[in-house]
Amino acid sequence: MPYQLDGKSIVITGGARGIGAEIAKGLGAEGARLVVADLTADSTKAVVEEIRAAGGTAIGVGADVRDRAQVQAMIQAAVKEYGRLDAIFNNAGIAQVQPFLKITEDDWHNVMDVNGLGVLIGMQEAIKVFLAQGGGGKVINTASIAGKQGYDPLAHYCASKWAVVALTQAAARAFGKDKINVNAICPGVVGTEMWKVIDRGFQAHGLSEGEDTSFHDMAAQAVLGRPSTATDLVGVAKFLASPDSDFMTGQSLLVDGGMVFV
Ligand SMILES: NC(=O)c1ccc[n+]([C@@H]2O[C@H](COP(=O)([O-])OP(=O)(O)OC[C@H]3O[C@@H](n4cnc5c(N)ncnc54)[C@H](O)[C@@H]3O)[C@@H](O)[C@H]2O)c1
Repeated sequence: MPYQLDGKSIVITGGARGIGAEIAKGLGAEGARLVVADLTADSTKAVVEEIRAAGGTAIGVGADVRDRAQVQAMIQAAVKEYGRLDAIFNNAGIAQVQPFLKITEDDWHNVMDVNGLGVLIGMQEAIKVFLAQGGGGKVINTASIAGKQGYDPLAHYCASKWAVVALTQAAARAFGKDKINVNAICPGVVGTEMWKVIDRGFQAHGLSEGEDTSFHDMAAQAVLGRPSTATDLVGVAKFLASPDSDFMTGQSLLVDGGMVFV
């Protein structure tokens, strides 16, 4: 087990599909014991079954990351099932395309509530459990290239992902003394349902023509020459959950095929 994840109790939000599902399956294959969480427990069934069919350990939980009581119950499910919590991936997120001058207060709150507040609540509730266990633990947040670079017409989405980077840095400073590592992953252009939503948004606002045009145009900026798949994020996810990253904290790692250099 090269990543030393065998038996680790790990919660991942937004685990029913896309990036979260691939990370959950990757961690499961390394022997981690998983709580795969998403808006409904039902939606996690296929991923949970796939992990179990491959010999792994997983349960599915329904939790809206905006709701503290549901997030607490999600984390307690891991503690009850596996005896402790070792890591949390705050990965759930939503995107919306809206030209800058048309972003409404509702648009702002919808995106910030899931991507910003949802990550804050997940971090807080996991860290409380880590502290009660005596310290140690891994927080891994999903930010984005949009947390390093502003993109029109995704300004409120970008703001939410800069918030994730800021929360990552602030918590790393706050809990370093408790040996809690807090890091983030910044994906680029990944072929998931989220990009279908973004692509439809570009088309609806007359910003691109034809299905997947905006996806391919944006992905063409990657110097490695192709769009990302969710699988591209699994290696760094395993690393950040493993003891190999014990001396690393407060970092937001770009895994984008070379789109943003900072
Ligand atoms: N796809 C990309 O190109 C890309 C790039 C950079 C960052 N990201 C980020 O990666 C993460 C995963 O995105 P994805 O591409 O897999 O998208 P996705 O839409 O395929 O999956 C997102 C998951 O989050 C869940 N979710 C949404 N709102 C939720 C809520 N309130 N509570 C709980 N779960 C909720 C959805 O049900 C879904 O299963 C997101 O944070 C996203 O912003 C994606």
